Amino acid sequence: MTLAAAIATLKSRADAERDLRIVDQFAADPARLKSQTLKVAGLYVDVSKQSWSQAGFADALKLFEAAGLEAAREKMWTGQAINVSENRAVLHVALRDSDAENKRLRGDEITEDVKAAREAMKAYADGIRLGTIVGATGKRFKTIVHIGIGGSDLGPRLVWQALSPLKPLVDIRFVANVDGSELAIATADIDPAETLVIAVSKTFTTQETLANFLAAREWLVTGLGEAAASKHLAAVSAAPAKTSAYGIPSDRVFGFKDWVGGRYSLWSAVSLSVIIAAGYEVYERLLNGAYKMDQHFLTAPAEKNAPLLLAAAQLYNRIGLDRPSRAVIPYAHRLRRLAAFLQQLEMESNGKRTDGYGKLLPTKTCPVVFGDEGTNAQHAFFQMLHQSEDIVPLEFIAVKTNAEASVDMQQKLLSNVIAQGEAFAVGKSLETSEAECKALGFDAEKTAIIAPQKVCPGNKPSTLVLLEALTPETLGALLALYEHKTFAEGIVMGLNSFDQWGVELGKTLANAVLEDITGADIKAHDPSTTAAIRAVK
Ligand code: F6P
Repeated sequence: MTLAAAIATLKSRADAERDLRIVDQFAADPARLKSQTLKVAGLYVDVSKQSWSQAGFADALKLFEAAGLEAAREKMWTGQAINVSENRAVLHVALRDSDAENKRLRGDEITEDVKAAREAMKAYADGIRLGTIVGATGKRFKTIVHIGIGGSDLGPRLVWQALSPLKPLVDIRFVANVDGSELAIATADIDPAETLVIAVSKTFTTQETLANFLAAREWLVTGLGEAAASKHLAAVSAAPAKTSAYGIPSDRVFGFKDWVGGRYSLWSAVSLSVIIAAGYEVYERLLNGAYKMDQHFLTAPAEKNAPLLLAAAQLYNRIGLDRPSRAVIPYAHRLRRLAAFLQQLEMESNGKRTDGYGKLLPTKTCPVVFGDEGTNAQHAFFQMLHQSEDIVPLEFIAVKTNAEASVDMQQKLLSNVIAQGEAFAVGKSLETSEAECKALGFDAEKTAIIAPQKVCPGNKPSTLVLLEALTPETLGALLALYEHKTFAEGIVMGLNSFDQWGVELGKTLANAVLEDITGADIKAHDPSTTAAIRAVK
């Protein structure tokens, strides 16, 4: 079947089954639950509360074969330049593979690159943790100021929040925004003599990161003097040559290659701060978890392949039913930045209008991804999700056991996530609402007013991903799950998931506006833009 035919089949199926009730599907097909759930790498995945019938589920899975996913996967894994617009290989998976696998699949150069990077990071991290590498005054490093933005921030920040010890040996402060308040807050209560500043930027040209880095360097110079400051600086970049202009000694520059995309880079030296603060062993375990998911993605049949189940659900909602958003709700405080991470991973990868050769795409692409941690989100925006006529598919991520929580609190948290899945699917009928009103003693007139307001239409789809526990391994598997989901969707939508031309326009215009704000003249703009420039001048 061609991809166009598979998409047409999916659309007509989704259209024909638009009013199908999710909860009725379990009776219609007793095998539904079994066929739409699976366990892998410490994760339980359930897509059985999606809007599809069993036939719709099968149609969605057929997209991958029709799109040639297997061949695309092979191209990625063997290092072919699948990022066609930038003529680059996409090999973040090499960062999780063993030396032997790298050698077999990708040759000596990549094997040596990965190996050397791992060894350098381990030596540096061990040195700081053991106190053999110290600051200019001889004090141990207690805090890292990690400066980076986008892929140079979101991944390591999420991993640190997820895995940081309650009392870390070394703490991390993340600074991303060019708003100086972030750096001011990060450095307000720390001692420069005990602080290591790490600038993380794939390109080492990013305005925000360079501005923050120069400001942080100034803070070190003020506290320690010019000569001492450089002992407190390190950098991570795929363009190491560019770092020397910023006074960073070359033995403290950690590299990675351009075949690691920014939003896929947490597996590289981009996570150096986490590797130092959590210990190299934690990083290895994170890689191992991702590796398990990689192998699963490579070998499991489509109907039992976790990334493909998630991708199929999204494609069914987006292409089949034209639903323009998806809510990601981690019921885990430690995963509170997951939606932010996925916004970049999915929206920067797949929020495109053309294919990698410039041709307009035939289908809608990435939906808006948004979310916040549960239960907080329940008390904020769930009202709209329950009662609006707009259908927002949800993804719940939960953690079964949490050693930091009492049994009682953990049970309360888990009961909320499970109940929300049920509430969105089942809803509340007018009859139930009327019965509730009656039980409350409302008269007929009041019941007629209140009962309709209590109705939740239900039939709103959700997916559940349940982690056994939040460990480096399950976190690695979870993040790799989303990477492969994103990749598979990109293949079906026919786009290049690994470039990001759309973000360039804003960068260019920001430079032009900066000239106008700092210079004497203002260039030609629309009247509103000119007025805004005048207002801040
Ligand atoms: O502007 C988008 C982007 O290029 C992202 O893709 C990237 O993760 C981020 O900026 C930061 O880039 P860099 O790591 O090169 O500073």
